Amino acid sequence: MEEITVLGIESSCDDTAAALVRVRIGSGGARGPGEILSSVVIGQEGLHAGFGGVVPEIAARAHAERLDLAVEAALAEAGCGLGGVDLVGVTAGPGLIGGVLSGVMCAKGIAFGAGLPLIGVNHLEGHALTPRLTDGIGAPYLLLLVSGGHCQLIEVAAPCRYKRLGGSIDDAPGEAFDKIAKLLGLGYPGGPEVEREALSGDETRFAFPRPLIERTGFDMSFSGLKTAVLRARDDLVAVAGGITVADRADLCASFQAAARDLLAAKTRAAMVNLASGGAHPVGARRLAVAGGVAANRAIRGALEAAAAETGFSFHAPPLALCTDNGAMIAWAAAERWALGERGGEITARPRWPLD
Ligand code: KG4
Ligand code: ZN
Repeated sequence: MEEITVLGIESSCDDTAAALVRVRIGSGGARGPGEILSSVVIGQEGLHAGFGGVVPEIAARAHAERLDLAVEAALAEAGCGLGGVDLVGVTAGPGLIGGVLSGVMCAKGIAFGAGLPLIGVNHLEGHALTPRLTDGIGAPYLLLLVSGGHCQLIEVAAPCRYKRLGGSIDDAPGEAFDKIAKLLGLGYPGGPEVEREALSGDETRFAFPRPLIERTGFDMSFSGLKTAVLRARDDLVAVAGGITVADRADLCASFQAAARDLLAAKTRAAMVNLASGGAHPVGARRLAVAGGVAANRAIRGALEAAAAETGFSFHAPPLALCTDNGAMIAWAAAERWALGERGGEITARPRWPLD
């Protein structure tokens, strides 16, 4: 059993992140759980708050200014220098290209200067493999990846082998959370704000649609839901001239309930399908969630209940590893290293589907 220490670098959206992870590598590949020696995330919420979304140009500049600081802090927190690192992994896409390029250039400089191998990682793969880093689960497993830019149900057949089963045909749920927060005068990122408001709201007050919930297959839609929330708010404003604190909480609760129901119903359908087709035999029935929206407690709870009902075990990373971080990039690089990949040219890609 070999042990390697991996530096992971992430800068594809609005978090500048670096981490050191120690990974055991056996004959069958990387063995989880990995040991996270350090994980530093420098957020940019303050820089984008006034815009209600990430401004690519501002994000890229901030990454370029802070990537070295994040790496330095990660090394210091782990108590090692670059001499203690065996491999560098960096997000090479998909994402905002200015940020991705900043990360790739930083990683190339470090790898070249320190004489280390460098692997370009797909950001989605980082999220997809996080349950192996945190829980050490084996494959196959069903993964629901829900973030600000993505919403996919993926079958992880083996490490680094994916089959997309379905997902959102329009907006990602995180994007819907962010837009609704903006609409209701809440802060950015919107997910945690809407979740907090929803705690005191009545989820039955507005009957928002659950688009495509009745249709067979695993596709979902969130743009109609977003429009319905907008209309409900406009109706309240037209009648009363504004919305009250209670109105806002009820809108958030009703929206979150619709998103929760839709995600849980489609994930449940995918579990039933994989179990009945024999793709996931008893003992290998595992549901994992990843991505920023997986930090939402109401959504996690509904998914956990659906898993229990269908005989699947449930794996949700700790909240800090649901949102973007460097540890998941380090782990994904180690998985690829364990499969024999040794790096090479890196192409920064704004789009890069998993399968
Ligand atoms: O995975 P992530 O950090 O970045 C992307 O790759 O997109 O996800 C960020 C997204 C944002 O849209 C944010 O509003 C959402 O995840 N999010 C949440 C929660 N925490 C973060 N959505 C709902 N509830 C939350 N608690
Ligand atoms: Zn992400």
